[in-house]
Amino acid sequence: MMLQSRDAAVAASTVPTGPAGRAMAQPIEAALLEGLQQHLTLERQASAAYWAMAIWFGERELRGFCHFLKAESADEQTHAGLFADYLVARGQTVQLEALAAPRQHWRDAEEIIAAIFQMEADVTSSSQQLHAMAERAGDVRTSVFLDPIVQGQIEAEHGAAHLLGRVRFAQGNPAAMLVIDGELSAGKHAPEPVG
Ligand SMILES: [Fe+2]
Repeated sequence: MMLQSRDAAVAASTVPTGPAGRAMAQPIEAALLEGLQQHLTLERQASAAYWAMAIWFGERELRGFCHFLKAESADEQTHAGLFADYLVARGQTVQLEALAAPRQHWRDAEEIIAAIFQMEADVTSSSQQLHAMAERAGDVRTSVFLDPIVQGQIEAEHGAAHLLGRVRFAQGNPAAMLVIDGELSAGKHAPEPVG
């Protein structure tokens, strides 16, 4: 009995731990870890950007756009949370960096939706780069974690491209914008699904 508990104590002391003191099965390569931390910041920045855009539409009585963009803001916060949870699960600590103030002045709705498309494309690029780094580092855990995130980004780009196309059709016409606003209010704004 004594021998068993001593063996258990020796086994416990040999479990590698990460910077947070949690058991860690495999360290994360330094550059990949830095990239994951930066991506978490990118998601938080996207959340702030969507929130600012929601306010812009709320100030102009386009409540469907406002509601939709608030939900997108919440989604980005959730994505940041996934990265935080993943870093904790891998025995790492999470660095929460200061965020820049989001842009609040825009020419028109089309300029905002075009910026959304670009923002989603940038997030996709970041997640793809992380995926490539994980593959090079032989970090299969991270590759598997990122797979559904890259898939989600493809859908986000598809949705943003569709909304941008419809806003371009409207050409700022109030009646047409109200149609799109109603679609967003009713949750009937999604393009044909991928796959
Ligand atoms: Fe995201």
